[in-house]
Amino acid sequence: MTGYETIKVERRGRVGLITLDRPEALNALNTQLMDEVVAAAGEFDRDPEVGALVLTGSERAFAAGADIKEMASLEFADAYLSGLFTGWEAFTRLRKPVVAAVAGYALGGGCELAMMCDILLAADTARFGQPEIKLGVIPGMGGTQRLTRAIGKAKAMDLVLTGRMMDAEEAERSGLVARIVPVADLLDEAVKLAATIAEMSPVATLMAKEAVNRAFETTLAEGVYFERRLFNGAFATADQKEGMAAFAEKRPPNFEGR
Ligand code: CAA
Repeated sequence: MTGYETIKVERRGRVGLITLDRPEALNALNTQLMDEVVAAAGEFDRDPEVGALVLTGSERAFAAGADIKEMASLEFADAYLSGLFTGWEAFTRLRKPVVAAVAGYALGGGCELAMMCDILLAADTARFGQPEIKLGVIPGMGGTQRLTRAIGKAKAMDLVLTGRMMDAEEAERSGLVARIVPVADLLDEAVKLAATIAEMSPVATLMAKEAVNRAFETTLAEGVYFERRLFNGAFATADQKEGMAAFAEKRPPNFEGR
């Protein structure tokens, strides 16, 4: 996990931490940064010693969007043929839970990247928005879809059509953000949250993420059916036996991921 130039990567116990690190551009998401985040996150996803990930930026900015300077001169064919931003799809296919820890600006692609994560933790300084309309374009990393699913059509239209920002309070009220914490505590809280998740049965954790995500892709009946198949499958694991035995014996469980 070395050789990265636009991110910092470290392990904190069973938590894999990725910090976006292009301070000169408010962590704007250029191609190199995308490739590095996807590579580092993929390594954590494959590492059995890691149970959950945290993705964060700086106090000033989680990320101020896709890199406008990198995009400005593109023609349609350049964007289309290169599959601009499609590299991020690998990030959405990570199987382990990812906590986004957002302070400062999460704009455009920054907001969209935060929404690709599973739990969004915001500092009280966080500001979210999809300002692409002001650049003569529209969101291009899933914003029109994920924001609408997260906060509903009324507010999504308000943000996407005006490009205005919303603060952490409004984002929590709207259902975009799971929790708000003081900015000084953001990283500790995010790592603590991810560490809590990483202590659970790894099999059940991946099942839970997969099942919740299925809610966005299918009908209620199909989704409930999918959940039941996974739920029943959980009874084939040693971790189910251990979890339920530990409850009966009034002791903490010791999950082994089997
Ligand atoms: N791309 C490239 N560079 C960026 C950037 C971006 N998205 N956002 C900020 N920067 C750069 C600035 O150009 C500036 O660099 P220089 O010092 O070399 O000029 C540096 O970061 C600091 O930014 P500012 O001086 O602008 O800082 P500020 O505090 O005055 O303003 C801001 C902060 C309001 C976030 C402002 O930087 C801003 O509006 N940024 C652009 C936000 C935006 O439009 N994002 C959407 C991008 S398009 C997109 O994301 C498409 C998609 O859907 C994937």
